[in-house]
Amino acid sequence: MEKTFFIETYGCQMNIAESNGLDSLLIEDGWKRADEAKDALAVILNTCSVRQTAENRIWGRLGYFRHIKDEKQQILVLAGCMAERIPEELTKKAKHIDFIVGTNNKAKIVNLLDEKYKTLNEKKSKKKSKPEIITGFQPLLDKQGDYPFIQTYYKVNDYSSYVPIMNGCNNFCTYCIVPYVRGREVSRDAKEIAKEIQFLDSQGVKEVCLLGQNVNSYKFENLNFADLLHIVCKDLKNIEFVRFESPHPKDFSDEVIEAIATERKIARHLHIPMQSGSTKILNSMNRRYTSEQYITLIDKIKKRIPECTFSTDVMVGFPGESQEDFQKTLDIMENAGFLEAFMYYWNPREGTKAVDFPNKVSQEVKLKRLEILIDKQLERTIKIKNGRLGGVQKVLVTQISRDNPGQMLGKNEHGEMVVFNSEKILEIGSMIDVKFICLKGNTFLGELFNE
Ligand code: SF4
Ligand code: F3S
Repeated sequence: MEKTFFIETYGCQMNIAESNGLDSLLIEDGWKRADEAKDALAVILNTCSVRQTAENRIWGRLGYFRHIKDEKQQILVLAGCMAERIPEELTKKAKHIDFIVGTNNKAKIVNLLDEKYKTLNEKKSKKKSKPEIITGFQPLLDKQGDYPFIQTYYKVNDYSSYVPIMNGCNNFCTYCIVPYVRGREVSRDAKEIAKEIQFLDSQGVKEVCLLGQNVNSYKFENLNFADLLHIVCKDLKNIEFVRFESPHPKDFSDEVIEAIATERKIARHLHIPMQSGSTKILNSMNRRYTSEQYITLIDKIKKRIPECTFSTDVMVGFPGESQEDFQKTLDIMENAGFLEAFMYYWNPREGTKAVDFPNKVSQEVKLKRLEILIDKQLERTIKIKNGRLGGVQKVLVTQISRDNPGQMLGKNEHGEMVVFNSEKILEIGSMIDVKFICLKGNTFLGELFNE
C-alpha cells in the first residue's frame, strides 16, 4: 500500500499556508501527493468555519468520502477551524472520520498518519466506532499559546509564497468566529521568519506575503511589526514584492507607515479592512476605531507614500445599520478611493455575539445595499485604473494565457492583472517591464516594453 495523500483546503490564506507547510512535512516524511482525492490513501480536509455555507460544503464532502471509504481503505482527517468549532458534532455525525485535528495541532497529522499507516499495514486495524479528536488551545487564556509554525514551504518553480508570522486574534469583533477557532495571538520568532525569507529568496521566490489575522500587532520579545518589516526586507536579492495581510486599522502605527515608506521592496498596495463607514456600526462590531480615524489613517499613508493604492473589506446589513449608516459607508469609500474591495453582507454566525443583536436588516435591503456598493466600487476601480494607462510598470509574470498561448499574464505591485503579447514564452516568475495600453473589463492589456 503506497503512502499517498491529498489535501483539500478551504478558507483563508492562513489555511492555504498551513496546508502548504503540511504538504512539505508529509513529502519529507516519505508520503507522495496523489493526483485526486479518491485515489489517495490519506485525505486531509483543511476546513473553514467562517460562514455556515463554508461548513455546509464540508458536510457535503464528508458524504462523498463516506462512499469512498465504503469501497476502499482510506484515512480521513478533518483538520482546521471546523474541527475546533464543532468536534463533538463531527464525532457523532461523521463516524468515518479517523482524526479530527484542530488549528494548533495540524503539524501532528504526519505522526498520526504514520501510526495509522503502520496499523493498516500490519493488518491490526480494528474497526473503530469514533473519530479521535486532537483539538484545544484554551481560547480564553490571555497569554501566548503554543501554536507551532510549520517550517518553510517551497516547491520548485514557485515564485510566490505565504509566510505566517502570527496566528490567532485577540480582538473579538462581534461578527467573527476566528478568535474562537484560532485562539489568542501568538507571534512567531523573528529569527525563524528571517531564516525562512532568506531561504525563499535564495530559491528565486519573487513575492512573499506575511500572514496573520492581525499582523500589525506582531510582538516577539522587543520587536514589533515595523521592526519585523525592516528585518524581512534586509538583503533581498530575488524577492521583489513583500506584502502582508491583514493589518487592523487600530494598530497601524506611524512606525509601520515609516517602515513601508523606507523599504522599497514592500509593495505599494495595502489591504486595510474597514468593514463600515459608520462609527455607530463600527462600535457595535467592536472594531475599536471610528470612521474618522480610519480615513485619517488612509490620508496619512497617502501623504507619506503617494503611489500607494488600497483595498478593503466592507460589510453591509450589519444589525442596526440604517440608510444613513450605509450612506456613510458609501461616502468613505469614495473618499478613500479604494482600488479594490471585498464586499459582502452580514450573515448571522452561530457562536458570535452579533447573532443576538436586535434590529436585523432584511435580506432584501441587504442585497440592495450590496448591489449599490458593488456598482459604485466597480466604477471607482475602472476610473483609478484608467488613470494608470500609458505608464510602464514592473510586472511579475504569473502564467501563460489559457485562451491564447501567444499571450502571458502578470501582475504589478498593486496586484493588478495585465495581459500582454509575447513571441517567446517568458519564465513564470520573471520580472519584466510592461506598458499598460488599455482596459478590458477589470484587466489591463499591455505590451512588453524594451522587448
Ligand atoms: Fe476576526 Fe476581528 Fe480578529 Fe479580524 S480582527 S480575525 S475580523 S476578530
Ligand atoms: Fe476560515 Fe478559519 Fe480562516 S474560520 S477564514 S479558515 S481562520
